Amino acid sequence: MTYAIIGTGNVGTALARQFARAGIDVAIANRQGPDSIQPLVDELGAHVTATTLQAALDADVILLAIPFVAVEELAKTRADWAGKIVIDATNAYGVSPQVMAGRLSSDIVAKAVSGANVVKTFNQLPAALLARDPAQDGGRRVIFVAGNDETATTSVKDLASRLGFSAIVVGRIDEGGRLLHIPGPLVLHNLVEFPLKSAS
Ligand SMILES: NC(=O)c1ccc[n+]([C@@H]2O[C@H](COP(=O)([O-])OP(=O)(O)OC[C@H]3O[C@@H](n4cnc5c(N)ncnc54)[C@H](OP(=O)(O)O)[C@@H]3O)[C@@H](O)[C@H]2O)c1
Repeated sequence: MTYAIIGTGNVGTALARQFARAGIDVAIANRQGPDSIQPLVDELGAHVTATTLQAALDADVILLAIPFVAVEELAKTRADWAGKIVIDATNAYGVSPQVMAGRLSSDIVAKAVSGANVVKTFNQLPAALLARDPAQDGGRRVIFVAGNDETATTSVKDLASRLGFSAIVVGRIDEGGRLLHIPGPLVLHNLVEFPLKSAS
């Protein structure tokens, strides 16, 4: 599996930090080009490489850390999304109810990247928490994951686990995934899972 992060802002940088910490190779891109990302890459080390948007979209797994309103424009820059896994870390903040028309933001993302399997995760915690070591006091920070395709969802769950999170699948986008959409009840909770202690 190859991984790419689109977006070098708060969330893109936070998650690039986790890939670097976990020793998993990831490419990262923005509209300004690789040179603008070089200082981050220099800081994070060999597992994080700066690339172009076009090259990043060739990855097997593409993590969207861009404004929700930018997804449609980005999606049009790739002709064929079939077979891709798209991790939707966006939130539709500030988008009018008229534009949303009762739809879940991840369904709008899925329509834009038609053919790809969209998995929603990493959207529910502030970037400052996403950047922190998920290991805390002997436990692991919880991240919720939702997706309609079981294989893609499991793959993203496994990635989140390898990044150090306690990844919990909450079902399909239109089921448990609803709880991950702002202002859903699973948004903005810093939960830590601890191993069960055996009774003695
Ligand atoms: N901030 C948080 O705490 C937080 C937490 C969870 C989820 N989120 C969600 O995560 C997403 C990113 O948030 P953020 O705070 O990281 O935003 P941000 O700091 O403003 O960064 C946005 C990034 O997206 C890139 N971008 C913008 N338009 C693009 C386009 N059309 N194509 C490709 N790249 C584009 C920007 O690159 P350029 O330099 O090229 O403009 C920038 O690197 C949003 O959807 C937000 O709702 C945010």
